[in-house]
Order: sequence, then structure tokens, then C-alpha cells
Amino acid sequence: MDRARALAMAVDESRQWDRLMELARIGAIPGDGVNRQALTALDRAARRLVIGWAEAAGARVSVDAAANLWLRVEGADPTAAPVVTGSHMDSQPAGGRFDGIYGVVAGLEVLSGLHDLGLTLERPLEVVAWTNEEGSRFAPGCMGSMAWAGRRPLAAFADITDAEGMRFGDALAEHLAAESDLPRRPLGGRLHAYIEAHIEQGPRLEAEGLDIGVVTGIQGSRWFNVTITGASAHAGTTPVSLRRDALQAAVRAIQSLNELMADPSDLLRFTVGSLTVEPGSSNSVAGRVRFTIDLRHPDRALLTERGDAVEGAIRRAVGPWVEVALVESFNAPPLDFDKGIVDSIVAAAEALGSRWTAMPSGAFHDAQLVASAAPAAMIFVPSHDGVSHNPAEFTSAAQLAAGTRVLAAALASHTKVSN
Ligand code: GLV
Ligand code: MN
Ligand code: MN
Repeated sequence: MDRARALAMAVDESRQWDRLMELARIGAIPGDGVNRQALTALDRAARRLVIGWAEAAGARVSVDAAANLWLRVEGADPTAAPVVTGSHMDSQPAGGRFDGIYGVVAGLEVLSGLHDLGLTLERPLEVVAWTNEEGSRFAPGCMGSMAWAGRRPLAAFADITDAEGMRFGDALAEHLAAESDLPRRPLGGRLHAYIEAHIEQGPRLEAEGLDIGVVTGIQGSRWFNVTITGASAHAGTTPVSLRRDALQAAVRAIQSLNELMADPSDLLRFTVGSLTVEPGSSNSVAGRVRFTIDLRHPDRALLTERGDAVEGAIRRAVGPWVEVALVESFNAPPLDFDKGIVDSIVAAAEALGSRWTAMPSGAFHDAQLVASAAPAAMIFVPSHDGVSHNPAEFTSAAQLAAGTRVLAAALASHTKVSN
């Protein structure tokens, strides 16, 4: 544990906090929030800051075909599979200062600590910033980690458009051109261990007075895009009986989904978070409505059963007068993290005297995708009032540093080539 403890003690609480606050100015919105969408100029500006800090810590920077950004400090054995940490730098449209970016800055803090100590680990240590985790500009989320893990080919995302009609493929090409000074590395590869630090985004750690959540797994998620097409018509002259009103149909569809998803145990999470109406005019009957479904549950069978029932429930609710198209854009089954990595986080938390608990994650994370290609687990730090995906998201500098110390020690425990 000596090397692990030294690396943990090298975590500089103020440096980490100052970096987070500097990054939070890029895309700042009222109320201390951040709106920094994937593959935008703001995203690139934030990445340049991170690159500067990483280079000052002696890291080599590279980017892969999905624009995942990699910061690598060489190990004594450069041929050994690296130990990797990281998260994402994009935010929700009305996001906070910590979701995702904390995991990247925490990794950077470990690299900086290593540099301050003048230490060389046996294995290489890498920090990765995955592209488009939130899925708020281009849906679904976790595109960078999904493509890296080979769960879906990058080309499958190319024609997905943002709200302005920009194709993901074009945004990615523009982004990679702006980063053409950075060396390219292949998409995919061998990782020895992956540990992602993240804010909890829920109330439990704070309520229980704990420092660390040792994340044992992630509940499953399914995303659907629903399009209901009727016919736009004059609101004053078209009798209701003759209308093919897409919005009235969508209301019936969502009501019937609420019934389908009713769960007395309150474990199932069902969200319609986006709904657009065309033509979107007071005196026109709606001709087309698009809405999203975000469905989550820890039980694979239940998630499969409810998700598979969505299309039928919608069709029965809307009747024959409108058309329904449904596309499933994301399906990440529930997952248990690697026991060896989980145990190493517990050992690090114990050695550092942190108050910890084992817990599952309600949010999805890049680690969920990485876990299909490498042993992985996560570390949570408390979220004040459990608030996240909201400008008011808050974790104190001391709580963030405590999480990074556990991260540093846990990463260090995997850097021996013999283990
Ligand atoms: C991640 O942002 C999620 O929606 O769980
Ligand atoms: Mn996140
Ligand atoms: Mn998020």
C-alpha cells in the first residue's frame, strides 16, 4: 500500500478544485451551471485546457477515431496493458459543474501527483475523456465508449442528427480536423483495469454521512424514439371527429405507458424527457409529435419485458388514425462490475480511513460499456441534496479530493505487472 498511499497523499485538493472551476467557466450558464455539448467549440476549448495540464504532468496526448481523448503516462514496462481512469466532459443542456468532468479532472490529478512525486509505475497509466456520454446533443449517450468497446460500430452513429440537423459524422469530422495536431491512436485496445470516479447524482451518500460509494453495478437502460404522425389541419375549421391529431394521440400513448410502467416498489424509472410538436402553432392541429422514452431497472427480465411491451401499448392507445414509428436507440443491460476491481476500491477506502458503502448506480456511465471489454468498476462521491443534471449540482472540494485519493490508491494497486 506504500506507493498507493503516496499517490493518494499527492492529491492536491485546491489544484483539483481550481481546475474544475476553470473548466466550469467554459459553457457556464446562470445558477452555476454548465452547458457544454459534445463536439462543439466549447467542448474543444475545455479539452485544450485539460491537454495543457496533462502535458505539464508529462503525459502524451492522443485521440482516437471516436474523438475519445487519451492522456498517457508511460510505465516502466510500456508494453504492459495500461491501468485507465476517466469519464466524460460533455454536459446536460442545463447541467452542473461536476457530472463527468470530475472523473476526468480526478484522473488528471492522479497524473499530476505522479509527476510531483517523480514516480514511475510499472504499468502505463491513462486518463480518457469519452465522447458524448450524455447523449443530449446526439442521442444515444456513451457513443465514444460504445464504439471503443466494439458494442456498436462508430459508423452506426454517423447519420444521427442534433436539433439543428447537424450529422454526428460531420460534427465528428469537424472536431477531428480541429484536433489534427494530436496523434491518432486506434479505437479499442487492451486495458488491465478501468476505474471511473463520478459524483453519485443521488442522495444516499450525503444522507448516510459517507465519503465514498463503491459502485458494484449499474441498472439497465433502454432508450426509444417515438414518432407519431397524423395530419396538420386548421384549428378553427376542422371538426374534432375528422382530425388526425398527433398530439392528442401522444397524450394517450404516454398515459398508457404510465400505466404499463406503474411500479409499487418505485424501482422502475420511466421518463419522457423530450417532446416536440410540429408544426407547433396554436391554431394548427399537430401533424407530428416526437418523444423520447428513457426506461431503467436493475432486473434484466423486467427491463426486457416492459421495454418490449412499449410499442404495443402505444399502438393500442393511439388507434388506427395516426402512424407510429418506434426506434430503440440504446440498450444497456444491467451489469455487475468486476469483483477484483470492486475489492481493490474497498481496500483503498479502508486503508485511507474513508467511510464507504457498496451501492449500485442508477445512472448509466461509460464504465458500463468499458466493462464489456475490460475489468471495471466505479467510485462515487456525495452529491449535495442528491441533485444532478441541474445547475445546482454540488460536491465540496474536500469530498472530491477524498474520492480522488481513493481513486489514486485503487489505481496504484493494479499497476504491478505481476498482478
Ligand atoms: C447519464 O447521464 C444518465 O442519464 O444516466
Ligand atoms: Mn456523467
Ligand atoms: Mn449525466
